[in-house]
Amino acid sequence: MRNVTLENVTDIVLGSLGKHQPIAARQREIMESLIQHLHGFCKDVDLTHDEFLYACDYLARAGQLCSDKRQEFILLADILGVEVLVDMLSNPISGKETASTVLGPFFRENAPVMPKGASTVQKAFEGQETVYVEGYVRDTKGQPIQGAILDIWEDAPNGLYENHDPDQPDYNLRGRFETDETGHYAFRALRPVPYPIPDDATAGELIRAMGHHTMRPGHIHVMINREGYRPLISQIYDSNSDYLDDDSVFAVKEDLVGKFERAGEGADTDLVLRFDFTLPEQAQMMAAE
Ligand code: BEZ
Ligand code: FE
Repeated sequence: MRNVTLENVTDIVLGSLGKHQPIAARQREIMESLIQHLHGFCKDVDLTHDEFLYACDYLARAGQLCSDKRQEFILLADILGVEVLVDMLSNPISGKETASTVLGPFFRENAPVMPKGASTVQKAFEGQETVYVEGYVRDTKGQPIQGAILDIWEDAPNGLYENHDPDQPDYNLRGRFETDETGHYAFRALRPVPYPIPDDATAGELIRAMGHHTMRPGHIHVMINREGYRPLISQIYDSNSDYLDDDSVFAVKEDLVGKFERAGEGADTDLVLRFDFTLPEQAQMMAAE
């Protein structure tokens, strides 16, 4: 096709799919929709060539920021509400299980494995409030799930995750905990504080382009894995925190808001948080799909 025009360019590109080598049905579905939406977007906003070059340079700069300590593209997806959308599409809720939410860019694999009740705190911060977090992991029939691994991570009272803060010990405020035969888990940690998502580079440019702010409400991340059950990636939000109703990455869900209460006399932490999780069985998931 030599005579490409504004009218036929989208159809010509769509027609190239699978023309010279076979492509899988799912790949075709994704590529067709991507091409249609991208072309539609450019036409909708009448994109100029200068704006196109700016976008190419922007993506190149975002890519250059990525390393094993920083994942800029997840951050950009979060700012646009894309990660929370994809998570809800991937993990439909039937009503019984604990809601999932965004993973975010700060998860690190291989956090230290700790005994039940241990503390993730390796460094003290002035004004910090300690919290004992405990609860049960159960299936949708209310039966305990033994041997589930909870991966926990949170920011420090200075608003920074340890991998973005050279002054924190490696894996500070991170840990992995296993449920016992009653499904019970427990760990000690710090009350999480609201923090700004990184806005020093391309993420900041995007936030400013949206006229939005950078703050997230205080939360503790949790990822739960147990063979036979749907893995859960979620967060527990502090009911007292600011920004619950105006999260910069749109990830708050009512059911994930927990109450940090004053600990009783003789307790070794300032606060206590009780939070239970429900995981759907893997077989149940497949039946629902
Ligand atoms: C987080 O909760 O760690 C997070 C999520 C999305 C973007 C930035 C941070
Ligand atoms: Fe976070």
